[in-house]
Amino acid sequence: MTLDVLLISPSFPADNGHFTKALHALPGVRVLGVGDQPAARMEPEVRDAIDALHVVPDLWDEDATVESTRAWLGSMGISRVDRVECLWEPGVVLAARMRAAFGAPGLSVDQAKAFRDKDLMKSRLDEAGIRTPHHYRARTAAEVEGAIERIGFPVIVKPIDGAGSADTHVMRSADDVGPVLAAVQHVPEVSVEEFIEGDEFTYDAILAGGETLFENVAWYRPKPLVARQNPWISPQAVCLADIDQSEISPGVALGRRALRALGLETGMAHMEWFRSSKTGEAIFGEVGARAPGGRLSHGMNYSCDGDVFRLWAEAITAGRTEQSMEKRFNAALVFKRAVGPGSTITSIEGLDRILAEHGEHIPVVDLVPVGARRKDWTQVVTGDGWLVARHMDLTETLALADRLACDVRLESAR
Ligand SMILES: Nc1ncnc2c1ncn2[C@@H]1O[C@H](COP(=O)(O)OP(=O)(O)OP(=O)(O)O)[C@@H](O)[C@H]1O
Ligand SMILES: [Mg+2]
Repeated sequence: MTLDVLLISPSFPADNGHFTKALHALPGVRVLGVGDQPAARMEPEVRDAIDALHVVPDLWDEDATVESTRAWLGSMGISRVDRVECLWEPGVVLAARMRAAFGAPGLSVDQAKAFRDKDLMKSRLDEAGIRTPHHYRARTAAEVEGAIERIGFPVIVKPIDGAGSADTHVMRSADDVGPVLAAVQHVPEVSVEEFIEGDEFTYDAILAGGETLFENVAWYRPKPLVARQNPWISPQAVCLADIDQSEISPGVALGRRALRALGLETGMAHMEWFRSSKTGEAIFGEVGARAPGGRLSHGMNYSCDGDVFRLWAEAITAGRTEQSMEKRFNAALVFKRAVGPGSTITSIEGLDRILAEHGEHIPVVDLVPVGARRKDWTQVVTGDGWLVARHMDLTETLALADRLACDVRLESAR
């Protein structure tokens, strides 16, 4: 029997292609792709992993996309599909609408909306008794000020459905209110939240039928907001080998409760949480019903020598896996950003020495080469390339990651 899986945006962003290939590699699965990227622009192996492709002019015109997909499926004699999946944040509600249209199980439109709207998300979690930052939605300056009065400084203001820490600002005192209101004037609706001081982590999970098949915690060094505001920093995300340790396990418990409260039973989730430096408690940040970005899925693979792309494919089709996925290493992803006023990379310093000393612990070196155009770090999390350091010992991993962050320099001279 063939299992029909409708995949939204099967080739973009790049990690989606890995999931698509993994799904196609399973026996008895037909991959039905719906996206806005034409086959000619896809990597050949991804294109070959899509059994039938429907290209739409505007994926985010949801009504039109659902209807043209209905006609396309109909032309193949298909009226129902077995699963609808989207591993990319903007398509999470569209996927739910497709499920409703084509009779597939999984998150409903109402459930999917709570994964997209940061205030609704937190309200649902509040109802379930989960600790979230105090939060209010605001559409006007007066509403922002009202929220500040109720929360007290410091507060953070961010778009209700933002990504990549864009338009996100902290207000520490009344002096910050004017400038921040001016800076977010173009954002139609914001979430005003209690600002949590402390370290920030991910909780990533793959589930099947309500059962958790895999969990991961990554430690952001520094917090994404700090990385976003300081271009000289090489941000790190460290997939931890030991997620049972006492500082981390409350975040894992929080993640499990949050996914249950929001109704995700099958698929992949990426949550962010804080460990309060005041109280030590785990506090919810945000959650997506999708894979993480920023190469984090690769980091998970390096931490357990497993394949999360395949694991997700197994989870949504068979509901189980034979892979062990046991954590064996701490795996630190380090993202580089070139320094200097130029537009191309002119030199890479400091790498050879670290590789000569520690090469066996550095499985990935993927930097923008000398002579190539530098990337816009405000647009791409991975910046001018990434490296991975992994080690069974966390202290060793962090030391090596810090050397890659500080001692490897990509120059962009004029
Ligand atoms: N309530 C809060 N307290 C402290 N820091 C916060 C809070 N909310 C957001 N931040 C900081 O701002 C960053 C961006 O916020 P958030 O993750 O909600 O938005 P995003 O733009 O969707 O992020 P992403 O980069 O994951 O797409 C967080 O990673 C965190 O560093
Ligand atoms: Mg975030």
